[in-house]
Amino acid sequence: MTILDIVKYPAPVLEQNCETVTIFDKRLIRLLSNMYDTMLEADGVGLAAPQVGIAKRIAIVDIDDKHGKIELINPEIVKEEGEQVGPEGCLSFPDLYGEVKRADYVKVRAQNRKGKWYELEARGFLARAIQHEIDHLNGVLFTSKVLRYFEPDELEVEG
Ligand code: CO
Repeated sequence: MTILDIVKYPAPVLEQNCETVTIFDKRLIRLLSNMYDTMLEADGVGLAAPQVGIAKRIAIVDIDDKHGKIELINPEIVKEEGEQVGPEGCLSFPDLYGEVKRADYVKVRAQNRKGKWYELEARGFLARAIQHEIDHLNGVLFTSKVLRYFEPDELEVEG
């Protein structure tokens, strides 16, 4: 088990467009595993590679529902519907929480750790977490979308 350092804002790696993953090897599997340990240790529901200083299109999400651990490599949103407004936080912004508008439903196309493409449909909070992480891969931070900030003790949702 390896806990990585989580990069905090402002760090340039958080605001850059990440590179496509082309090599699916043991290093990638180790990174995914370390990212997962790091996310759990930090009580997060998602983590993107730039948050551990790696500007590659890799993210993980686990909101502790039936989907379990979701590994998103080179993910793209191929369909989105509806909208939801809800609380959001980010492990790169400790103690900062805000209300963000997101699509209520997304269909995502991504590669798994072996490089195989798959599709995933998500609604509600899972859809929110996925959109937050994919934004990270494009250098987009949730603070650019916050409609209103909460007090630090009001909520605890981080990704
Ligand atoms: Co985040």
